[in-house]
Amino acid sequence: MINHEIKIHFQEYASVDELENADKPLCLEAVKALATSHSPYSKFRVGVAMRLQSGKILYASNQENVAYPSGLCAERVALFHWGANHPNDAIESMAVTAHTDDFKLLKPVTSCGACLQVLAEYEKKQGRPIKMLLYCQGGPVWVASGVESFLPFLFFEDRLNS
Ligand code: THU
Repeated sequence: MINHEIKIHFQEYASVDELENADKPLCLEAVKALATSHSPYSKFRVGVAMRLQSGKILYASNQENVAYPSGLCAERVALFHWGANHPNDAIESMAVTAHTDDFKLLKPVTSCGACLQVLAEYEKKQGRPIKMLLYCQGGPVWVASGVESFLPFLFFEDRLNS
């Protein structure tokens, strides 16, 4: 029997003001994206801003539906929009933030497994990692240099793509 241990790495910044370079503005753009959230069922708004290599910023938010499973997380709204419209302009970083009037968020929202799997697919497709900035307004920012930090056992099978 072999015991394996996996370590993941991410940085915690106490506030958005401590971030370097273009990261703080991108977090603030994610806040703007909260406005388009369609979340009448959960009342939990999620906003995403994605910076592409060209400098272009894409915005997205969660889109719910009365047939609950038909809705989609903000991250996948952003990623599928990118895949359909800007696939040759690599994603450098993605900022994610959330807001609800129902309770105070004390830590960043972390993307669900399905969104992480989709992120992993596009990292692979574009051949470079996507920096993740998980931003809690009035609280900390968690930063990871790529999705593998959050999903070390992501599914990938190169032989399905040959
Ligand atoms: N949600 C996201 O958009 N991204 C996340 O990272 C977590 C959850 C959405 C899905 C649903 O519309 C609402 O938040 C509550 O789960």
